[in-house]
Amino acid sequence: GLKKKEVNVLCLGLDNSGKTTIINQLKPTNAQAQDIVPTIGFSIEKFKTSSLSFTVFDMSGQGRYRNLWEHYYKEGQAIIFVIDSSDKLRMVVAKEELDTLLNHPDIKHRRIPILFFANKMDLREALSSVKVSQLLCLENIKDKPWHICASNAVQGEGLQEGVDWLQDQIR
Ligand code: GTP
Ligand code: MG
Repeated sequence: GLKKKEVNVLCLGLDNSGKTTIINQLKPTNAQAQDIVPTIGFSIEKFKTSSLSFTVFDMSGQGRYRNLWEHYYKEGQAIIFVIDSSDKLRMVVAKEELDTLLNHPDIKHRRIPILFFANKMDLREALSSVKVSQLLCLENIKDKPWHICASNAVQGEGLQEGVDWLQDQIR
């Protein structure tokens, strides 16, 4: 048919990791925001790929809003989890939030695909995606398909590879 399949995606990760910048880059040029501000609560965004129409719940990563994430887990059919690869100090906080997510009853027993972006790869102090993957212990995720891409959301680099992978998981 002509109608694309609709998919709900949750975009999660700490504040300042680049979630909104990534989602903005995936939208058509004429729908992109010019300046990006920290998300308050969450924002609902849309973008399309060749076969899918994504509705994104772009959640705020600020500590005071992270308790909102779980209310959307049931509706999510895929997860984009964004990490600031240059934020070594908070890598342990990112891991804690990821572990809490993976152990949540609405996520734990579901084969929901998770796309990780090791974002801000352009920064000199950024860790490689392999290193980020090790620090987050991603190899321990056995019951869900997952994939990690290094990205530079400001330039839009690495995003297409990730979204192509996600699209393949859903069809
Ligand atoms: P919250 O909404 O607060 O949870 O943050 P967020 O994860 O949505 O981050 P946001 O997209 O607002 O980006 C935070 C800052 O990081 C902005 O100044 C972005 O321009 C910058 N940024 C995002 N991605 C990159 C990147 O790949 N490289 C660099 N150098 N800066 C980036
Ligand atoms: Mg945001």
